Amino acid sequence: MPDGLVVRAAGAEDADAIDAVIRAAFAGTQYGHQGEAELVRMIEADGDALASLVAERGGEIVGHVLFSRMNVEADGRVLAAAGLAPVSVAPDRQGQGVGDALIRAGLAMLRGQGIAMSFVLGHENYYPRFGYSPDLAARFVSPFSGPHFMAMMLDSGTALPQGGRADYAPAFGRMG
Ligand SMILES: CC(C)(COP(=O)(O)OP(=O)(O)OC[C@H]1O[C@@H](n2cnc3c(N)ncnc32)[C@H](O)[C@@H]1OP(=O)(O)O)[C@@H](O)C(=O)NCCC(=O)NCCS
Repeated sequence: MPDGLVVRAAGAEDADAIDAVIRAAFAGTQYGHQGEAELVRMIEADGDALASLVAERGGEIVGHVLFSRMNVEADGRVLAAAGLAPVSVAPDRQGQGVGDALIRAGLAMLRGQGIAMSFVLGHENYYPRFGYSPDLAARFVSPFSGPHFMAMMLDSGTALPQGGRADYAPAFGRMG
C-alpha cells in the first residue's frame, strides 16, 4: 500500500466525491463520455454493488473502484461472480499505485464474501498483474468477448470452469 494511502469501503456520504473522481478520471480518456459516474449510481440503486471502495490521501478521495454482481453460468451451474468496473484514479494521482491498491483490496473483499470469480473488460497490459486472464474469459460467451475481456478465479476451491456464459448487471445494458 503506498504511503499515506487509506483504502476503505465507500459510504453514502462519499457519493459526490466518487462522482467527481470518476468524471475527472474518464474526462481525458478514449472512452470520451461521462457515463461511468451514472453507471455507478445505477448499480448502487439496483443493489448490485458487491464492493465499492475509495482511496483517500490526506482526507481527500483520490480513487474509487466498483465490483458489481454478474450473472454467470459455468459448466451448467450458477457461479457467484463480480465484474470490475469502473476503476478511477484522479488524473494527478495516476501511476502511483492507487488503482493497484483499490483493485487488490476489492478482490480481497470479494474473496471474503465467497465470490468465486471476477471478470473485467480492460487493458491487457494492466489487469493480468492481478491474475486476470483473457484465456479464461474466452471460455465464456459474452457480449464483451475479445482480447480485452479477462477473468480470474477468486476461490481456489472452485474448479476451473470449462465454459459458460457471463453477463454484467442490468445497469450496463442501460448505458447510453
Ligand atoms: C487505469 C487506472 C485506474 C490505473 O490506476 P493508477 O493508479 O494510475 O495505476 P497504478 O499506479 O496502480 O499502476 C500503474 C500502471 O498502470 C498502467 N496504466 C495506467 N493507466 C492505464 C491505462 N489506461 N491502460 C493501461 N495501463 C494503464 C501504467 O502504465 C502503469 O503500468 P506499469 O506498472 O507497468 O508501469 C487510472 O490510470 C485511471 O483512472 N485511468 C482513467 C480511467 C480508466 O481508464 N479506467 C480504466 C477503465 S475501466
